[in-house]
Amino acid sequence: MTRQLTWHEEWSLHIDILDTDHRGIIERFAEICARFGPEASEGRSGDALALIGALTDLGEVAREHFEREEELMQAVGYEDIAEHRTEHALLMAEFTDMLRHWRAEQMHILDQDKQESVRDWILDHILGADSEFAKAFFELDDPFDVAQHRRAPAAPDRTKLNAARRGL
Ligand SMILES: [Fe+2]
Repeated sequence: MTRQLTWHEEWSLHIDILDTDHRGIIERFAEICARFGPEASEGRSGDALALIGALTDLGEVAREHFEREEELMQAVGYEDIAEHRTEHALLMAEFTDMLRHWRAEQMHILDQDKQESVRDWILDHILGADSEFAKAFFELDDPFDVAQHRRAPAAPDRTKLNAARRGL
């Protein structure tokens, strides 16, 4: 039985606009797994075009999220924005490359290995660079005023995030 990726509250950065996006990306991916995973496809051949289409849409949702994130970084004057932008570009290139291979092999079932590749791709972003940004965000004097967001609890604890990740 394939493990389903679900949102973990420990992954929250306590920045609503980003948490909502991250949660949405994870939920969308879970739907794709439910629709195209090995269990769903048992006894039938699957649909390569529909699967690649759904993953392409997921990539577009991620791209839009990266843009929103960069706008927020710009609004608060995040000093590592260039590095983060580069990481977004690399992530998108990585995703496009994955899809290119899977399209070429006419993948019609998202097996466990492939699900894990996408899951790692999503979580590397949320638990890696984004948690670094959240730390810097909460070091600002009045981050939610600067970013026009509501005040939230203290920055997430990196140790907890890492523990959450190990517990996947
Ligand atoms: Fe993000």
